[in-house]
Amino acid sequence: MKADPEWLHQQTMNSLLWLSATKEHPLGSWLNNCLQQHLCLSDKRLEQNLLGINFANPIGLAAGFDKDGIAANIWSSLGFGFAELGTITYHSQPGNPRPRLFRLPLDQAALNRMGFNNSGAAAVAARLKQDKLEITSSVSSPKGINLGKSKITPLEDAAQDYLESFRLLKDVGDYFVVNVSSPNTPGLRSLQDASLLSSILDVLQQENTSQKPLFVKIAPDLEWEAIADIIHLAQTYNLAGLIATNTTISREGLKTQIIEQTGQPPQAEAGGISGAPLRDRSTEVIKFIYQQTQGQMPIIGVGGVFTTEHAWQKITAGASLIQVYTGWIYEGPLMVKRILTGLLGKLEEHSLNSISEAVGMENR
Ligand SMILES: Cc1cc2nc3c(=O)[nH]c(=O)nc-3n(C[C@H](O)[C@H](O)[C@H](O)COP(=O)(O)O)c2cc1C
Repeated sequence: MKADPEWLHQQTMNSLLWLSATKEHPLGSWLNNCLQQHLCLSDKRLEQNLLGINFANPIGLAAGFDKDGIAANIWSSLGFGFAELGTITYHSQPGNPRPRLFRLPLDQAALNRMGFNNSGAAAVAARLKQDKLEITSSVSSPKGINLGKSKITPLEDAAQDYLESFRLLKDVGDYFVVNVSSPNTPGLRSLQDASLLSSILDVLQQENTSQKPLFVKIAPDLEWEAIADIIHLAQTYNLAGLIATNTTISREGLKTQIIEQTGQPPQAEAGGISGAPLRDRSTEVIKFIYQQTQGQMPIIGVGGVFTTEHAWQKITAGASLIQVYTGWIYEGPLMVKRILTGLLGKLEEHSLNSISEAVGMENR
């Protein structure tokens, strides 16, 4: 019998929480150093200053892994150049009934319908503020904070719900993400519609007096016209950029016939697909955004990155930064260093001096 993927995830998070809590003690600090030695790669050519934030490398942890920010200060020791925490909602919520996370190994994919399980904006804000006070010995990597709508909040009150979360969290994140693309909160994706989205962006930017970079994370299932509308809004509201993409509701081309835990085909199960089946579509979306904005709007590319080649495809299509989730689950913790080593090889192969020179290269 294989272990339940959500149980495995919780075990991982418990270990990371312990590491985070003991980071300043001798044993924890020693372990942290060991991790850094094995998993991190530091090289000037991988560094970027984007939107006033220093990224030591372009590979970040995607939203959904550390929903409560409990390992916020550990991700850099695992080699990541940044980590996006959340999705965090204003009200704490348990998420959907289990089982709600499935591996589809034949497809190198996952299907999830977690439903934004998280401890709520106030609790996460308190934790991150405490972290800031306690961590003195090392600099941690940039933190993104991904915000979603609470399930109990009606869609028409969504803007206020995002605003309340942002108020609580705005001092503890380096950048913020309006997540309107999860398939697992009823009606959430309808907030990608330009008129609804503009009301959210409007209130957030009014509150955003310290001008923290604000991104919108979009679904891969949108039509080109809808993506063009969002790009237009992003320009109107002076957003930092877009994150492309979230999981897909498409089940096209899956090899998996039956999901073991439920005995049902993936077509009969609600949720979003991540990993390899999403790879090409998310790269297409990145390319579209890059071309529509003449490369003027930073893009965080995410979807199906397992190897250097996948990351390079997204970077040369136009992504300045990359995020990973499903690839990391399948490939294990050495994946980030492997990709970074490969990216340095790519830079040499193309006679480039830094990763920023490769961004969007394929479009030129
Ligand atoms: C179990 C799981 C939970 C996720 N939860 C969130 C979430 O809370 N918020 C979010 O914006 N994206 C969430 N995502 C989507 C990822 O951030 C990412 O956009 C997507 O999985 C595609 O990347 P990947 O193919 O590298 O996994 C989740 C993905 C998975 C697999």
